This record gives sequence, C-alpha cells and structure tokens, in this order.
Amino acid sequence: MRRKFVAGNWKMNKTISEARQLITELLLTLKSLDGIDRAVCPPSMALPMAARLLEGTGVGLGAQNMYWEESGAYTGELAPNMVAELCGYVLIGHSERRGYFGETDETVNLKVKAALAHGLTPIVCMGESLEENQAGKTAEVISRQVRGGLAGLTPEEGAKLVIAYEPIWAIGTGLAATAEDANAIHCDVVRPALAEIFGEQVAQGIQIQYGGSVKPDNADGFFAQSDIDGALVGGASLKAESFAAIARAAADAS
Ligand code: 13P
Repeated sequence: MRRKFVAGNWKMNKTISEARQLITELLLTLKSLDGIDRAVCPPSMALPMAARLLEGTGVGLGAQNMYWEESGAYTGELAPNMVAELCGYVLIGHSERRGYFGETDETVNLKVKAALAHGLTPIVCMGESLEENQAGKTAEVISRQVRGGLAGLTPEEGAKLVIAYEPIWAIGTGLAATAEDANAIHCDVVRPALAEIFGEQVAQGIQIQYGGSVKPDNADGFFAQSDIDGALVGGASLKAESFAAIARAAADAS
C-alpha cells in the first residue's frame, strides 16, 4: 500500500522570516498527520532555519534544485552534500527548471543519480506542455522523460524515487487536470513506463504525485483515485490554511 505524500513547492517565494512564520503555522496541523508523508520545499536560503524548526516533527524538508557535481567552481549552485546535510528530499527537473533554466532529461538523470548517491529522495517532475497535450503527445512525452531522466538506475534505486506528474498547462493556471484524466496518465502512462525500467513490483511501490492547481476544493477528488498518491502543491502551499487543508484531505483519504 502506497502512502499518500503531500509536498509544498514554494518556488521563489518567502523570505527566511516569512518561511519561519509559515512553517510554525503549518506545524500545528502537519505534525499530527502521521498517516501521510508531508514535506515543504522552501527556497534554499531558508533551508537551514527550516531544518532546525522541522527536526523531530515528522515533516520532511526538500530543496527545489541542486547540481550533480560534488564540489568546485560552479558559481551559484548547491552541491548534493550541502542539500543532504539539511534535507531528505530534492525536487529534480521541475518544468520551470526545464523551461527557464535549460534542464533536459540528461541533466535530470545526472541530478537524480547524484541525489540517490547522497541518500536524498528525488522527487522527479515531469509533464507535457499544452501544445504537446493538444497534439495527443502526452504519453510519448512522459515515456521519453521517464526513460531519459531515469536511465541507468537499478530497481533498488527506482524504489527510492518519488515521481510528480505535473502537466505544464495546469501549473499556476487554476485549470487543474480532472482527477480521472490525471489518474489515467498515472496508471496508463507513468507507472507502465516505470515498470518497463524497474519491473512491475517496484513500479507499483513508487509514489506518483499529481501537481498543477491542486487546491483545498479539488484535493479530495485527486486523492480518491487509485494511482494518485499525493500532490505537489505550488500556489496553495504558500498559505498555512490551504496547504493544511490539502494535507488533511490526503490523510482522510488514507
Ligand atoms: P500550482 O499548484 O501553483 O499550480 O503549482 C504546481 C507546481 O508547479 C508544483 O511544483
């Protein structure tokens, strides 16, 4: 049985003091929801503070990105061991990283391998654009992202992954995929692609989150689906009330 996993991707929002305030408020609800996995991914400046605040609470911490090299002359980047000192999770290959910062399936693959080598759980993000969706290319795009991003991983490594399916057209638009459509992608496209690489048994154990305009009023619909194992939440993770409500919906569905 896969546990539900709700994670908040704060993107480029919240100063350290704002992050402290939000986490303090969130803990009032999240701490007790131990039937689900839950995590926040604040900007990297806030990670040391967040790590101290979250210690011993059962609420996980994730970085939004990292580089794959161990150390050296890579101005502006975070090394895997820096992230691993503070976090259990790291988002890899978010569509904003791919779209604005030139990340590809190849760089995603390098980052996933580096994360695993440092004991981090990568949350590997994938999803199709509006044009790809309208051209009927969703399955093709997702299969390519799975094969490219996860190439060369063993089944043991595959078992440590979390996947986030985030159709780009649903991110920040208020136009979420329907729960049924998202579930169909999860069980007919993402999981079979994972099974091709890692085998059916490993694929069945991997948590697949849905992301894209998840809100308190549509969350329970997603969590009622067979293959939607949680959510990666953007905008609605920036307010304690709405993220707590989404986490509660996941706990209620568990
Ligand atoms: P929104 O929830 O704001 O649509 O963002 C989703 C997302 O990109 C999470 O990574």
